[in-house]
Amino acid sequence: MIRVRELAKTFTLHNQGGARLPVLQGVSLEVGPGECVALQGPSGAGKSTLLKCLYGNYKPTSGSVTVAETEVTSASDQELLRLRASSVGYVSQFLRVIPRVPAIDVVADEVRGKPEARQEAEQLLLRLRIPMRLWSVPPATFSGGEQQRINIARTFIRKKPVLLLDEPTASLDAENRVTVTAMINEAREAGAAIVGIFHDQKVREAVATRIVEMEELS
Ligand SMILES: Nc1ncnc2c1ncn2[C@@H]1O[C@H](COP(=O)(O)OP(=O)(O)OP(=O)(O)O)[C@@H](O)[C@H]1O
Ligand SMILES: [Mg+2]
Repeated sequence: MIRVRELAKTFTLHNQGGARLPVLQGVSLEVGPGECVALQGPSGAGKSTLLKCLYGNYKPTSGSVTVAETEVTSASDQELLRLRASSVGYVSQFLRVIPRVPAIDVVADEVRGKPEARQEAEQLLLRLRIPMRLWSVPPATFSGGEQQRINIARTFIRKKPVLLLDEPTASLDAENRVTVTAMINEAREAGAAIVGIFHDQKVREAVATRIVEMEELS
């Protein structure tokens, strides 16, 4: 589902006189259905950068990234949007949503048009312990952990074959960490190909089928 070949990413810092910052070099990786690869390495090693290259947010300097049979590095904006909608779920560390949309709709809108959309959204919010009084409130004012759980609910309500998870449990309490760990394992057992960054060792050991070490280049 995911194939990365000889990926390199160098940032050019335009406000630093064009200084070049190499972050990824010679990264190759294959992830199949039912696998969960945990990226490990020091802060700044390029873990989030690699996930963003897989999602098509960052354009690599060289190399190839294939996700669900689409070459991400050369995909048009439209192809990229189609690929994401059909096949790729991405949980970033921070929630970005349209303002003034209630939490329940942020989640249900992901499966818009499906008759049971609202019911499925409610089930996920219950499972992730979002208090009912918050369901009709836009998540902008939610706590870090509440926002993260809305982010997770919104991604997991659709069963996508590829999941990219950037520290999905970083601001969660122990109970919710256990819940999210179970959700990740259910997705994997259902056949998802997962790449994630899990800074919590217990979570990592509970979800990862393989660990990939990343080193700092500079
Ligand atoms: N858009 C960008 N422009 C310039 N430099 C960037 C950009 N994005 C990331 N970097 C740099 O690339 C390096 C790797 O960043 P990245 O966020 O991938 O690290 P990470 O391994 O996820 O670290 P952490 O564990 O702290 O999240 C950092 O030095 C960062 O400053
Ligand atoms: Mg990171």
